[in-house]
Amino acid sequence: MIGATGNVGRPLVAGLVARGARPRILTRDPARARLAPGAEAVIGDLDTPGRADTLLAGADAAFVVTAGPDAPAHDRTIAAAVARYGVRRVVKVTSVAALPPVHDSYGAAHAAAEAAYLATGAHCTFLRPAAFMSNTLQWHWSVTGRSTVFQPFGDLPQAVVDPADIAEAALRVLDAPELGGRAYTVTGPEPLTPRQRTHRLAAALGRALTFVDAPPEQAHRAMTATGLPPAYVDGLLASQSDPDPARGGLPLPTVRNLTGRPPRTFTNWLAAHVHEFR
Ligand SMILES: NC(=O)c1ccc[n+]([C@@H]2O[C@H](COP(=O)([O-])OP(=O)(O)OC[C@H]3O[C@@H](n4cnc5c(N)ncnc54)[C@H](OP(=O)(O)O)[C@@H]3O)[C@@H](O)[C@H]2O)c1
Repeated sequence: MIGATGNVGRPLVAGLVARGARPRILTRDPARARLAPGAEAVIGDLDTPGRADTLLAGADAAFVVTAGPDAPAHDRTIAAAVARYGVRRVVKVTSVAALPPVHDSYGAAHAAAEAAYLATGAHCTFLRPAAFMSNTLQWHWSVTGRSTVFQPFGDLPQAVVDPADIAEAALRVLDAPELGGRAYTVTGPEPLTPRQRTHRLAAALGRALTFVDAPPEQAHRAMTATGLPPAYVDGLLASQSDPDPARGGLPLPTVRNLTGRPPRTFTNWLAAHVHEFR
């Protein structure tokens, strides 16, 4: 597993371990990773030659999440190892932005990753999620410090999805290979704009929050100030501003169809995470 300590990977590892599997996972920092007992760690970085090989040699299936500006290079490295070791199945988290025709460089990177895994000959399943509910945690500093949420595209709805539901969808596909071999768009149950999500967070906290529809240039400056390359930020913001309802704007029955139960709501997610904003 690659990305096993992230938003989707962590609940997936828990689900695999709970059913007696012993997933082999890559992490750069096993102390921070807080691995579930039963998971086996390969310590290292995808930038280090040979790490993907150590992880994937002898594997029957691979679950892959890559993230950030280095993701395209990481996906090429992983796909080469998948081909080299004849890994038979790949479940890869990409994005609604990969839906053809792609509209921006963020979507193009995810689409290129999908093509790289398909070219290995492995049986590939792509989970293309809408925006994650867990992105709300990025509001932590401004909510705790200024009771304000700064976010661009404040009135653009997204059927935000709980990463735990993406993990359950992945678990289902890993359990039932006949469900794989295709791409799934994965959404939550209701379209919510950033402004509406702010109102829900305020209600959960029991205090007022101000929503500021931040100009995209301001968001761009804030993101590049964290060290992200400007071209990568351009792509991310273009993708976030995409009004195409097929790209996460409309709820789809994917989670229910794959897991047999409805997707978790944003209100549920807030109930589990509101303490992190106090
Ligand atoms: N956030 C959203 O709204 C959203 C929506 C749609 C699609 N997506 C896509 O979903 C994916 C997951 O994004 P996320 O932000 O939730 O990230 P994440 O999965 O929470 O975290 C990144 C994971 O990648 C691993 N990782 C990062 N760099 C690594 C490296 N150099 N070597 C080895 N492992 C490395 C980290 O492992 P360690 O730290 O343990 O090493 C961690 O497990 C991305 O492809 C993103 O584009 C996100």
